[in-house]
Amino acid sequence: MAHCIPMAKQSGLDPLGDELRSARSAKPCVLIIFGATGDLTKRKLVPSLMGLSKDGLLPAGFAVVGFARRPWTDKSFREVLSEGVETFGRSDTSEHFEQHRDAFSYHQSDFSDEAGYASLREKLDQIDAARGTAGNRIFYLATPPSAYSNILENLARAGLSEEDNNRFARVIVEKPFGRDLSTATALNNQVNKAFHERQVFRIDHYLGKETVQNILALRFANGIFEPLWNEKFVDHVQITVAESIGVGSRGAYFEESGVIRDMIQNHLMQVMTLVAMEPPAAMTADAVRDEKVKVLKAIRTFEPEQVERDTVRAQYTGGSFGGEDVNGYKQEEGVPQESVTETYAAVKLQIDNWRWSRTPFFLRSAKRMPRRVTEVAIQFKQPPHMLYGGATTQPNMLLLRIQPDEGVALRFGAKVPGPDMRIRDVRMDFRYGTAFGGETADAYERLLLDAMLGDGTLFARADEVEEAWRIVDSIIAGWKQSSNPPAGYVAGTWGPKLGEDLLGDGRTWRRP
Ligand code: BG6
Repeated sequence: MAHCIPMAKQSGLDPLGDELRSARSAKPCVLIIFGATGDLTKRKLVPSLMGLSKDGLLPAGFAVVGFARRPWTDKSFREVLSEGVETFGRSDTSEHFEQHRDAFSYHQSDFSDEAGYASLREKLDQIDAARGTAGNRIFYLATPPSAYSNILENLARAGLSEEDNNRFARVIVEKPFGRDLSTATALNNQVNKAFHERQVFRIDHYLGKETVQNILALRFANGIFEPLWNEKFVDHVQITVAESIGVGSRGAYFEESGVIRDMIQNHLMQVMTLVAMEPPAAMTADAVRDEKVKVLKAIRTFEPEQVERDTVRAQYTGGSFGGEDVNGYKQEEGVPQESVTETYAAVKLQIDNWRWSRTPFFLRSAKRMPRRVTEVAIQFKQPPHMLYGGATTQPNMLLLRIQPDEGVALRFGAKVPGPDMRIRDVRMDFRYGTAFGGETADAYERLLLDAMLGDGTLFARADEVEEAWRIVDSIIAGWKQSSNPPAGYVAGTWGPKLGEDLLGDGRTWRRP
Protein backbone atom coordinates (compact mmCIF):
# COMPACT_ATOMS: atom_id res chain seq x y z
CA MET A 1 0.00 0.00 0.00
CA ALA A 2 1.56 3.31 -1.03
CA HIS A 3 0.82 6.47 0.88
CA CYS A 4 1.12 9.83 -0.81
CA ILE A 5 3.18 12.39 1.06
CA PRO A 6 3.07 16.07 0.07
CA MET A 7 6.24 17.07 -1.79
CA ALA A 8 7.09 19.75 0.73
CA LYS A 9 7.00 17.17 3.53
CA GLN A 10 9.24 14.85 1.56
CA SER A 11 11.81 17.61 1.16
CA GLY A 12 11.71 18.30 4.89
CA LEU A 13 10.47 21.86 4.41
CA ASP A 14 6.94 21.23 5.54
CA PRO A 15 5.36 24.67 5.15
CA LEU A 16 2.03 23.02 5.92
CA GLY A 17 0.89 25.83 8.16
CA ASP A 18 1.27 28.30 5.31
CA GLU A 19 -0.19 25.87 2.85
CA LEU A 20 -3.36 25.55 4.85
CA ARG A 21 -3.61 29.25 5.62
CA SER A 22 -5.91 31.07 3.27
CA ALA A 23 -4.99 34.26 1.48
CA ARG A 24 -8.67 35.11 1.15
CA SER A 25 -10.01 37.65 3.57
CA ALA A 26 -13.60 38.66 3.90
CA LYS A 27 -14.92 42.17 4.40
CA PRO A 28 -16.64 43.13 7.66
CA CYS A 29 -20.29 42.15 7.71
CA VAL A 30 -23.33 41.18 9.78
CA LEU A 31 -24.91 37.77 9.39
CA ILE A 32 -28.62 37.81 10.10
CA ILE A 33 -29.99 34.33 10.71
CA PHE A 34 -33.73 33.87 10.26
CA GLY A 35 -34.95 30.96 12.34
CA ALA A 36 -31.94 31.30 14.62
CA THR A 37 -33.55 29.33 17.46
CA GLY A 38 -33.48 26.18 15.31
CA ASP A 39 -30.95 23.41 15.47
CA LEU A 40 -28.88 24.46 12.47
CA THR A 41 -27.66 27.66 14.13
CA LYS A 42 -26.29 26.03 17.24
CA ARG A 43 -25.12 22.80 15.62
CA LYS A 44 -23.56 24.09 12.42
CA LEU A 45 -23.61 27.81 11.73
CA VAL A 46 -22.14 29.28 14.89
CA PRO A 47 -19.64 26.44 15.52
CA SER A 48 -18.50 26.95 11.91
CA LEU A 49 -18.13 30.70 12.40
CA MET A 50 -15.97 30.00 15.42
CA GLY A 51 -13.95 27.55 13.32
CA LEU A 52 -13.33 30.43 10.90
CA SER A 53 -12.31 32.59 13.83
CA LYS A 54 -9.86 29.93 14.97
CA ASP A 55 -8.30 29.89 11.51
CA GLY A 56 -8.10 33.69 11.46
CA LEU A 57 -10.65 33.93 8.64
CA LEU A 58 -13.43 35.85 10.34
CA PRO A 59 -13.32 39.55 9.45
CA ALA A 60 -12.46 41.94 12.26
CA GLY A 61 -15.81 43.71 12.02
CA PHE A 62 -18.31 40.92 12.42
CA ALA A 63 -21.66 40.38 14.12
CA VAL A 64 -24.55 37.94 14.12
CA VAL A 65 -28.19 38.79 14.65
CA GLY A 66 -30.57 35.92 15.37
CA PHE A 67 -34.05 36.71 14.03
CA ALA A 68 -36.83 34.45 15.25
CA ARG A 69 -40.22 34.33 16.91
CA ARG A 70 -39.43 32.85 20.31
CA PRO A 71 -39.16 35.24 23.23
CA TRP A 72 -35.42 34.82 23.73
CA THR A 73 -33.03 37.55 24.82
CA ASP A 74 -29.45 38.33 23.84
CA LYS A 75 -28.42 36.53 27.00
CA SER A 76 -30.39 33.33 26.42
CA PHE A 77 -29.41 33.29 22.72
CA ARG A 78 -25.74 33.52 23.64
CA GLU A 79 -26.09 30.75 26.21
CA VAL A 80 -27.58 28.37 23.67
CA LEU A 81 -24.87 29.24 21.16
CA SER A 82 -22.11 28.86 23.69
CA GLU A 83 -23.35 25.34 24.47
CA GLY A 84 -23.62 24.62 20.76
CA VAL A 85 -20.00 25.61 20.14
CA GLU A 86 -18.88 23.58 23.14
CA THR A 87 -20.72 20.48 21.91
CA PHE A 88 -20.41 20.70 18.15
CA GLY A 89 -17.44 23.00 17.50
CA ARG A 90 -13.87 22.12 16.63
CA SER A 91 -11.38 21.89 19.45
CA ASP A 92 -10.64 25.15 21.29
CA THR A 93 -13.39 27.09 19.54
CA SER A 94 -15.22 27.80 22.81
CA GLU A 95 -12.66 30.44 23.70
CA HIS A 96 -13.31 32.08 20.35
CA PHE A 97 -16.99 32.23 21.19
CA GLU A 98 -16.15 33.91 24.48
CA GLN A 99 -14.08 36.50 22.63
CA HIS A 100 -16.93 37.18 20.22
CA ARG A 101 -19.81 36.80 22.69
CA ASP A 102 -20.89 40.45 22.42
CA ALA A 103 -21.07 40.18 18.65
CA PHE A 104 -24.18 37.97 18.96
CA SER A 105 -27.58 39.51 19.51
CA TYR A 106 -31.18 38.40 19.26
CA HIS A 107 -34.05 40.11 17.46
CA GLN A 108 -37.50 38.82 18.29
CA SER A 109 -40.10 39.23 15.58
CA ASP A 110 -42.63 37.35 13.57
CA PHE A 111 -41.40 36.72 10.01
CA SER A 112 -44.50 38.43 8.62
CA ASP A 113 -44.33 41.52 10.82
CA GLU A 114 -43.18 44.52 8.77
CA ALA A 115 -42.26 46.45 11.92
CA GLY A 116 -39.80 43.71 12.84
CA TYR A 117 -37.81 44.49 9.68
CA ALA A 118 -37.86 48.24 10.25
CA SER A 119 -36.47 47.69 13.72
CA LEU A 120 -33.96 45.17 12.31
CA ARG A 121 -32.77 47.86 9.96
CA GLU A 122 -32.24 50.27 12.84
CA LYS A 123 -30.45 47.60 14.81
CA LEU A 124 -28.14 46.87 11.87
CA ASP A 125 -27.28 50.55 11.52
CA GLN A 126 -26.36 50.62 15.21
CA ILE A 127 -24.23 47.51 14.82
CA ASP A 128 -22.47 49.08 11.83
CA ALA A 129 -21.60 52.10 13.96
CA ALA A 130 -20.51 50.07 16.97
CA ARG A 131 -18.71 47.17 15.31
CA GLY A 132 -17.48 48.54 12.00
CA THR A 133 -19.56 46.17 9.86
CA ALA A 134 -19.76 48.80 7.12
CA GLY A 135 -23.34 48.19 5.98
CA ASN A 136 -22.54 44.72 4.60
CA ARG A 137 -25.27 42.15 5.27
CA ILE A 138 -25.82 38.48 4.71
CA PHE A 139 -29.30 37.12 5.38
CA TYR A 140 -29.44 33.43 6.14
CA LEU A 141 -32.80 31.70 5.64
CA ALA A 142 -32.69 28.84 8.14
CA THR A 143 -36.44 28.66 8.65
CA PRO A 144 -38.91 26.12 7.31
CA PRO A 145 -39.37 26.94 3.60
CA SER A 146 -42.94 28.07 4.26
CA ALA A 147 -41.52 31.25 5.84
CA TYR A 148 -39.20 32.15 2.93
CA SER A 149 -41.71 34.19 0.95
CA ASN A 150 -42.64 36.39 3.90
CA ILE A 151 -39.02 37.02 4.74
CA LEU A 152 -37.96 37.79 1.18
CA GLU A 153 -40.82 40.20 0.62
CA ASN A 154 -40.21 41.99 3.86
CA LEU A 155 -36.48 42.29 3.28
CA ALA A 156 -37.13 43.88 -0.10
CA ARG A 157 -39.82 46.16 1.29
CA ALA A 158 -37.53 47.37 4.07
CA GLY A 159 -34.82 48.13 1.49
CA LEU A 160 -32.56 45.53 3.09
CA SER A 161 -31.87 43.65 -0.13
CA GLU A 162 -30.36 46.69 -1.84
CA GLU A 163 -26.63 46.95 -2.32
CA ASP A 164 -24.31 49.44 -3.94
CA ASN A 165 -20.61 49.76 -4.69
CA ASN A 166 -19.77 50.30 -1.05
CA ARG A 167 -21.85 47.66 0.68
CA PHE A 168 -23.23 44.28 -0.13
CA ALA A 169 -26.48 42.49 0.67
CA ARG A 170 -26.63 38.73 0.12
CA VAL A 171 -29.02 35.94 0.90
CA ILE A 172 -28.18 32.33 1.75
CA VAL A 173 -31.01 29.86 1.23
CA GLU A 174 -31.02 26.47 2.97
CA LYS A 175 -32.38 23.31 1.44
CA PRO A 176 -34.92 22.01 0.64
CA PHE A 177 -35.08 24.34 -2.34
CA GLY A 178 -38.62 23.54 -3.46
CA ARG A 179 -40.19 20.08 -3.49
CA ASP A 180 -40.53 19.79 -7.27
CA LEU A 181 -39.78 21.82 -10.37
CA SER A 182 -42.78 24.09 -10.10
CA THR A 183 -42.24 25.01 -6.43
CA ALA A 184 -38.50 25.49 -7.05
CA THR A 185 -39.20 27.77 -10.01
CA ALA A 186 -41.71 29.74 -7.96
CA LEU A 187 -39.16 30.08 -5.17
CA ASN A 188 -36.44 31.15 -7.61
CA ASN A 189 -38.79 33.82 -8.96
CA GLN A 190 -39.52 34.99 -5.47
CA VAL A 191 -35.85 35.08 -4.47
CA ASN A 192 -34.92 36.85 -7.69
CA LYS A 193 -37.63 39.47 -7.16
CA ALA A 194 -35.88 40.55 -3.96
CA PHE A 195 -32.23 39.77 -4.87
CA HIS A 196 -30.20 39.57 -8.09
CA GLU A 197 -28.88 36.09 -8.80
CA ARG A 198 -25.33 37.26 -7.97
CA GLN A 199 -26.58 38.05 -4.44
CA VAL A 200 -28.10 34.57 -3.95
CA PHE A 201 -26.27 31.62 -2.35
CA ARG A 202 -28.21 28.33 -2.33
CA ILE A 203 -26.58 25.95 0.10
CA ASP A 204 -25.78 22.38 -0.72
CA HIS A 205 -23.46 21.46 2.11
CA TYR A 206 -21.88 18.63 0.09
CA LEU A 207 -20.18 21.27 -2.06
CA GLY A 208 -18.45 22.60 1.05
CA LYS A 209 -16.80 19.25 1.77
CA GLU A 210 -13.08 19.29 1.01
CA THR A 211 -13.25 15.92 -0.69
CA VAL A 212 -16.06 17.03 -2.98
CA GLN A 213 -13.99 20.05 -4.05
CA ASN A 214 -11.10 17.70 -4.56
CA ILE A 215 -13.02 16.06 -7.41
CA LEU A 216 -12.25 19.12 -9.51
CA ALA A 217 -8.67 19.33 -8.26
CA LEU A 218 -8.06 15.68 -9.08
CA ARG A 219 -9.48 16.08 -12.57
CA PHE A 220 -8.17 19.47 -13.59
CA ALA A 221 -4.91 19.88 -11.66
CA ASN A 222 -3.50 16.59 -12.95
CA GLY A 223 -2.62 15.41 -16.41
CA ILE A 224 -3.12 11.69 -16.06
CA PHE A 225 -6.80 11.30 -15.24
CA GLU A 226 -8.60 13.46 -17.75
CA PRO A 227 -7.52 11.57 -20.90
CA LEU A 228 -9.22 8.47 -19.42
CA TRP A 229 -12.24 10.30 -18.10
CA ASN A 230 -14.77 9.38 -20.79
CA GLU A 231 -16.90 6.62 -22.26
CA LYS A 232 -13.95 5.05 -24.08
CA PHE A 233 -12.29 4.05 -20.83
CA VAL A 234 -14.88 4.31 -18.08
CA ASP A 235 -17.35 1.43 -17.88
CA HIS A 236 -19.60 3.09 -15.33
CA VAL A 237 -19.63 5.37 -12.32
CA GLN A 238 -21.18 4.57 -8.93
CA ILE A 239 -22.01 7.34 -6.49
CA THR A 240 -23.06 6.11 -3.07
CA VAL A 241 -24.22 8.07 -0.07
CA ALA A 242 -25.05 5.49 2.57
CA GLU A 243 -26.11 6.43 6.07
CA SER A 244 -26.35 4.11 9.02
CA ILE A 245 -28.89 6.26 10.85
CA GLY A 246 -32.61 5.79 10.38
CA VAL A 247 -34.98 8.74 10.06
CA GLY A 248 -35.17 9.04 13.85
CA SER A 249 -37.34 11.94 14.96
CA ARG A 250 -37.51 13.34 11.41
CA GLY A 251 -40.17 10.85 10.28
CA ALA A 252 -42.77 13.49 9.46
CA TYR A 253 -40.30 15.53 7.37
CA PHE A 254 -38.86 12.47 5.68
CA GLU A 255 -42.28 11.08 4.82
CA GLU A 256 -42.85 14.17 2.64
CA SER A 257 -39.47 14.02 0.94
CA GLY A 258 -38.04 10.53 0.74
CA VAL A 259 -34.43 9.92 -0.14
CA ILE A 260 -34.91 11.10 -3.72
CA ARG A 261 -35.80 14.64 -2.64
CA ASP A 262 -33.72 14.68 0.52
CA MET A 263 -30.45 13.41 -0.97
CA ILE A 264 -30.47 12.56 -4.68
CA GLN A 265 -31.96 15.76 -6.12
CA ASN A 266 -29.29 17.81 -4.39
CA HIS A 267 -26.22 16.15 -2.86
CA LEU A 268 -25.79 13.20 -5.23
CA MET A 269 -26.63 15.13 -8.36
CA GLN A 270 -24.23 17.89 -7.35
CA VAL A 271 -21.45 15.37 -6.88
CA MET A 272 -22.34 13.76 -10.20
CA THR A 273 -22.10 17.05 -12.09
CA LEU A 274 -18.59 17.61 -10.72
CA VAL A 275 -17.54 14.15 -11.86
CA ALA A 276 -19.12 14.51 -15.29
CA MET A 277 -18.65 18.17 -16.26
CA GLU A 278 -16.30 19.47 -18.94
CA PRO A 279 -13.30 21.57 -17.86
CA PRO A 280 -14.58 25.12 -17.30
CA ALA A 281 -13.01 28.03 -19.19
CA ALA A 282 -11.92 29.43 -15.82
CA MET A 283 -12.49 28.62 -12.17
CA THR A 284 -15.10 31.32 -11.82
CA ALA A 285 -18.54 30.80 -10.33
CA ASP A 286 -20.40 31.13 -13.58
CA ALA A 287 -17.94 29.23 -15.75
CA VAL A 288 -18.05 26.25 -13.35
CA ARG A 289 -21.80 26.34 -12.96
CA ASP A 290 -22.36 26.69 -16.71
CA GLU A 291 -20.56 23.37 -17.17
CA LYS A 292 -22.49 21.69 -14.36
CA VAL A 293 -25.79 22.78 -15.86
CA LYS A 294 -24.78 21.35 -19.25
CA VAL A 295 -24.41 17.92 -17.64
CA LEU A 296 -27.87 18.08 -16.10
CA LYS A 297 -29.37 19.29 -19.36
CA ALA A 298 -27.91 16.26 -21.12
CA ILE A 299 -29.87 13.87 -18.89
CA ARG A 300 -33.13 12.83 -20.45
CA THR A 301 -36.41 13.25 -18.60
CA PHE A 302 -37.51 9.71 -17.57
CA GLU A 303 -40.49 8.08 -19.29
CA PRO A 304 -42.67 6.01 -16.90
CA GLU A 305 -41.45 2.69 -18.34
CA GLN A 306 -37.85 3.84 -17.97
CA VAL A 307 -38.55 4.58 -14.31
CA GLU A 308 -39.62 0.93 -13.84
CA ARG A 309 -36.44 -0.25 -15.53
CA ASP A 310 -33.82 2.21 -14.36
CA THR A 311 -34.74 3.03 -10.77
CA VAL A 312 -35.25 1.09 -7.55
CA ARG A 313 -36.89 2.32 -4.38
CA ALA A 314 -37.21 0.55 -1.09
CA GLN A 315 -38.02 0.99 2.58
CA TYR A 316 -36.10 -0.42 5.51
CA THR A 317 -37.79 -2.95 7.73
CA GLY A 318 -36.89 -3.65 11.35
CA GLY A 319 -33.69 -5.45 12.07
CA SER A 320 -30.78 -5.73 14.36
CA PHE A 321 -28.23 -2.98 14.08
CA GLY A 322 -25.01 -2.86 16.04
CA GLY A 323 -26.44 -5.45 18.42
CA GLU A 324 -29.66 -3.49 18.96
CA ASP A 325 -33.12 -4.04 17.58
CA VAL A 326 -34.15 -1.09 15.44
CA ASN A 327 -37.48 0.00 14.01
CA GLY A 328 -38.56 -0.45 10.47
CA TYR A 329 -39.38 2.80 8.66
CA LYS A 330 -43.12 2.31 9.15
CA GLN A 331 -42.64 2.02 12.90
CA GLU A 332 -40.77 5.34 13.10
CA GLU A 333 -42.54 8.28 14.74
CA GLY A 334 -44.61 10.31 12.29
CA VAL A 335 -44.68 7.64 9.57
CA PRO A 336 -48.07 6.21 8.57
CA GLN A 337 -48.55 2.46 8.14
CA GLU A 338 -49.49 2.86 4.48
CA SER A 339 -46.36 4.90 3.69
CA VAL A 340 -44.76 4.31 0.28
CA THR A 341 -41.93 6.79 0.88
CA GLU A 342 -38.53 5.41 -0.07
CA THR A 343 -35.61 5.31 2.35
CA TYR A 344 -33.45 3.68 -0.35
CA ALA A 345 -33.23 4.85 -3.93
CA ALA A 346 -30.94 3.80 -6.73
CA VAL A 347 -31.14 5.33 -10.18
CA LYS A 348 -29.36 4.81 -13.46
CA LEU A 349 -28.66 8.07 -15.21
CA GLN A 350 -27.55 8.30 -18.79
CA ILE A 351 -25.81 11.48 -19.83
CA ASP A 352 -26.46 12.05 -23.51
CA ASN A 353 -23.30 13.82 -24.56
CA TRP A 354 -20.05 13.02 -26.37
CA ARG A 355 -18.08 12.28 -23.27
CA TRP A 356 -20.50 9.94 -21.53
CA SER A 357 -22.95 8.56 -24.07
CA ARG A 358 -22.12 4.92 -23.27
CA THR A 359 -21.20 5.26 -19.61
CA PRO A 360 -24.06 4.95 -17.14
CA PHE A 361 -23.93 6.78 -13.83
CA PHE A 362 -25.51 4.88 -10.94
CA LEU A 363 -26.58 6.92 -7.94
CA ARG A 364 -27.69 5.29 -4.72
CA SER A 365 -28.53 6.64 -1.31
CA ALA A 366 -30.23 5.14 1.70
CA LYS A 367 -30.80 5.26 5.43
CA ARG A 368 -30.01 2.30 7.69
CA MET A 369 -27.24 0.86 5.59
CA PRO A 370 -24.48 -1.08 7.36
CA ARG A 371 -22.18 1.97 7.54
CA ARG A 372 -22.00 5.66 6.88
CA VAL A 373 -20.02 6.13 3.73
CA THR A 374 -19.98 8.48 0.76
CA GLU A 375 -17.87 7.60 -2.24
CA VAL A 376 -17.55 7.89 -5.98
CA ALA A 377 -16.26 4.80 -7.77
CA ILE A 378 -15.04 5.25 -11.35
CA GLN A 379 -14.87 1.78 -12.79
CA PHE A 380 -12.70 1.41 -15.87
CA LYS A 381 -13.11 -1.05 -18.72
CA GLN A 382 -11.11 -4.27 -18.77
CA PRO A 383 -8.12 -4.47 -21.14
CA PRO A 384 -9.22 -5.34 -24.70
CA HIS A 385 -7.43 -8.68 -24.51
CA MET A 386 -6.64 -10.66 -21.37
CA LEU A 387 -3.21 -12.25 -21.57
CA TYR A 388 -3.38 -13.80 -18.14
CA GLY A 389 -5.90 -16.60 -18.34
CA GLY A 390 -7.64 -17.21 -15.06
CA ALA A 391 -6.59 -13.82 -13.72
CA THR A 392 -8.72 -13.00 -10.71
CA THR A 393 -8.51 -9.25 -11.03
CA GLN A 394 -11.43 -6.90 -10.95
CA PRO A 395 -11.58 -4.00 -13.39
CA ASN A 396 -9.42 -1.00 -12.46
CA MET A 397 -11.21 1.40 -10.22
CA LEU A 398 -10.53 4.89 -9.00
CA LEU A 399 -12.28 5.41 -5.70
CA LEU A 400 -12.92 8.89 -4.38
CA ARG A 401 -13.66 8.49 -0.69
CA ILE A 402 -15.70 11.55 0.23
CA GLN A 403 -16.33 10.54 3.85
CA PRO A 404 -15.30 9.17 6.30
CA ASP A 405 -11.69 8.03 5.81
CA GLU A 406 -11.29 10.76 3.20
CA GLY A 407 -8.95 9.95 0.37
CA VAL A 408 -8.46 8.51 -3.10
CA ALA A 409 -7.55 4.95 -3.99
CA LEU A 410 -6.64 3.27 -7.25
CA ARG A 411 -7.25 -0.45 -7.66
CA PHE A 412 -5.15 -2.34 -10.16
CA GLY A 413 -3.80 -5.82 -10.74
CA ALA A 414 -0.25 -6.77 -9.72
CA LYS A 415 1.83 -9.90 -10.02
CA VAL A 416 1.76 -12.08 -6.94
CA PRO A 417 5.40 -12.81 -6.03
CA GLY A 418 6.43 -16.34 -6.95
CA PRO A 419 7.19 -18.51 -9.92
CA ASP A 420 3.69 -18.33 -11.40
CA MET A 421 2.21 -15.43 -13.29
CA ARG A 422 -0.65 -14.85 -10.91
CA ILE A 423 -2.39 -11.51 -10.70
CA ARG A 424 -4.10 -10.03 -7.70
CA ASP A 425 -5.82 -6.72 -6.98
CA VAL A 426 -3.84 -4.18 -4.99
CA ARG A 427 -4.45 -0.55 -4.09
CA MET A 428 -2.60 2.72 -4.15
CA ASP A 429 -4.04 4.80 -1.42
CA PHE A 430 -3.96 8.49 -0.62
CA ARG A 431 -5.36 9.50 2.78
CA TYR A 432 -6.10 13.10 3.65
CA GLY A 433 -5.32 12.53 7.31
CA THR A 434 -1.88 11.09 6.56
CA ALA A 435 -0.96 13.58 3.86
CA PHE A 436 -2.21 16.80 5.39
CA GLY A 437 -2.95 16.01 9.05
CA GLY A 438 -4.98 18.43 11.10
CA GLU A 439 -8.70 18.76 11.65
CA THR A 440 -10.91 19.03 8.62
CA ALA A 441 -13.13 22.08 8.75
CA ASP A 442 -16.87 21.54 8.56
CA ALA A 443 -18.41 22.12 5.13
CA TYR A 444 -20.34 25.09 6.50
CA GLU A 445 -17.08 26.92 7.33
CA ARG A 446 -16.08 27.03 3.71
CA LEU A 447 -19.55 27.93 2.53
CA LEU A 448 -20.03 30.74 5.05
CA LEU A 449 -16.63 32.15 4.15
CA ASP A 450 -17.41 31.98 0.43
CA ALA A 451 -20.71 33.77 0.97
CA MET A 452 -18.84 36.50 2.86
CA LEU A 453 -16.40 36.71 -0.05
CA GLY A 454 -19.23 36.75 -2.59
CA ASP A 455 -17.92 33.64 -4.32
CA GLY A 456 -20.84 31.57 -5.62
CA THR A 457 -18.80 28.71 -7.15
CA LEU A 458 -19.81 26.24 -4.44
CA PHE A 459 -23.48 27.22 -4.40
CA ALA A 460 -26.25 25.95 -6.63
CA ARG A 461 -27.46 28.37 -9.26
CA ALA A 462 -31.19 28.71 -10.06
CA ASP A 463 -30.92 26.79 -13.34
CA GLU A 464 -28.97 23.91 -11.72
CA VAL A 465 -31.65 23.43 -9.11
CA GLU A 466 -34.40 23.50 -11.71
CA GLU A 467 -32.70 21.04 -14.06
CA ALA A 468 -32.15 18.60 -11.19
CA TRP A 469 -35.82 18.85 -10.28
CA ARG A 470 -36.86 18.21 -13.88
CA ILE A 471 -35.10 14.84 -13.75
CA VAL A 472 -36.24 13.93 -10.24
CA ASP A 473 -39.84 14.98 -10.95
CA SER A 474 -39.98 12.52 -13.82
CA ILE A 475 -38.75 9.71 -11.55
CA ILE A 476 -41.29 10.56 -8.85
CA ALA A 477 -44.06 10.72 -11.48
CA GLY A 478 -43.10 7.21 -12.64
CA TRP A 479 -43.18 5.91 -9.07
CA LYS A 480 -46.61 7.46 -8.51
CA GLN A 481 -47.97 5.71 -11.58
CA SER A 482 -46.36 2.40 -10.74
CA SER A 483 -48.38 -0.41 -9.25
CA ASN A 484 -45.27 -1.77 -7.52
CA PRO A 485 -44.81 -0.52 -3.97
CA PRO A 486 -41.28 0.08 -2.66
CA ALA A 487 -39.35 -3.12 -2.00
CA GLY A 488 -38.18 -3.90 1.52
CA TYR A 489 -34.65 -4.25 2.90
CA VAL A 490 -33.69 -5.20 6.38
CA ALA A 491 -32.13 -2.40 8.40
CA GLY A 492 -28.38 -2.85 8.43
CA THR A 493 -28.14 -4.43 4.97
CA TRP A 494 -27.01 -2.94 1.64
CA GLY A 495 -30.50 -2.64 0.21
CA PRO A 496 -32.84 -4.83 -1.84
CA LYS A 497 -31.76 -7.43 -4.37
CA LEU A 498 -33.46 -5.32 -7.06
CA GLY A 499 -30.82 -2.70 -6.43
CA GLU A 500 -28.16 -5.14 -7.63
CA ASP A 501 -30.19 -6.00 -10.73
CA LEU A 502 -30.28 -2.35 -11.71
CA LEU A 503 -26.61 -2.32 -12.66
CA GLY A 504 -26.82 -5.09 -15.28
CA ASP A 505 -23.99 -6.43 -17.46
CA GLY A 506 -22.41 -8.34 -14.58
CA ARG A 507 -21.71 -5.17 -12.60
CA THR A 508 -22.11 -5.10 -8.85
CA TRP A 509 -22.46 -2.35 -6.29
CA ARG A 510 -19.49 -1.81 -4.09
CA ARG A 511 -19.86 -2.94 -0.48
CA PRO A 512 -17.64 -0.33 1.13
C1 BG6 B 1 -29.02 16.33 4.79
C2 BG6 B 1 -30.20 15.41 4.78
O1 BG6 B 1 -29.10 17.26 3.74
O2 BG6 B 1 -27.82 15.56 4.64
C3 BG6 B 1 -30.09 14.36 5.88
O3 BG6 B 1 -31.39 16.17 4.97
C4 BG6 B 1 -28.77 13.63 5.77
O4 BG6 B 1 -31.18 13.43 5.79
C5 BG6 B 1 -27.61 14.62 5.68
O5 BG6 B 1 -28.64 12.81 6.92
C6 BG6 B 1 -26.30 13.91 5.38
O6 BG6 B 1 -25.24 14.81 5.46
P1 BG6 B 1 -23.76 14.32 5.81
O7 BG6 B 1 -22.92 15.53 5.65
O8 BG6 B 1 -23.81 13.80 7.21
O9 BG6 B 1 -23.45 13.24 4.83
